[in-house]
Amino acid sequence: MRQPIIAGNWKMYKNVNEAIELVNNIKREVYDVANVGIVVCPTFTNLSDVGQMLVENNVALGAQNCYWEKEGAFTGEVSVDMLKSVGCKYVIIGHSERRKYFGETDETVNMRIKAAIESEIVPILCVGETLEEREASKTIEIVETQIKGALKGFSEKDIVSLVIAYEPVWAIGTGLTATPDQAQEIHAAIRKLIAELYSDVLASSMRIIYGGSAKPENIEELMREEDIDGGLIGGASLKPESFIDMIKKTSKLYEGTKD
Ligand code: PGA
Repeated sequence: MRQPIIAGNWKMYKNVNEAIELVNNIKREVYDVANVGIVVCPTFTNLSDVGQMLVENNVALGAQNCYWEKEGAFTGEVSVDMLKSVGCKYVIIGHSERRKYFGETDETVNMRIKAAIESEIVPILCVGETLEEREASKTIEIVETQIKGALKGFSEKDIVSLVIAYEPVWAIGTGLTATPDQAQEIHAAIRKLIAELYSDVLASSMRIIYGGSAKPENIEELMREEDIDGGLIGGASLKPESFIDMIKKTSKLYEGTKD
């Protein structure tokens, strides 16, 4: 059985005091949830403080990006080892906002993933199509190209812990969510691609999570789908009550029928 992941992408929200308050609220409510991988991804400036609140905790720390070089004259960048030194276990790579506003390409995504793997931080690789691409029936083609580019040169062993987040760009922060059927179709296609590129074993163990206006009201219907193994949550992760609710609903679902 794949353990689901609920990850909060806090984007460029929360100063350090607000971040500490948010993580404390979350910790207090989910300390006994053992069947869901819980991750919070604050901004770089808050990683260290939030990380200190999460030492030996069931809530794991993640970053929103990383650079591929170990160190050097790269003003404004943060290396994977630096992330690791403040307790990061995960790093989001290739988010559509990075691709859209900061020139991220499949090639740079590939380099960032390589750095994360080498430092044993779990990459959360984000892929997804724009509205125009969906309307032109190019969703699967786009997602496959992004995944092939991102994973170029990696062996099965390299990516055994990798998480893929399918995030349709048109659903991010818009209030529009992919229907469970729409999401399931793409998640299944991604799993099939992993089976073709690697093996059935890897495909059946890889966590493929959904992102794009996921919220307490729709998390259960999404999570009931066979190939949806969790969520990358933006807006709804900034309010403790909605993030906690999504974690608890997922936990309950996995205690019951979904396996
Ligand atoms: P959203 O963001 O939940 O606010 O749509 C998801 C994401 O960008 O990861």
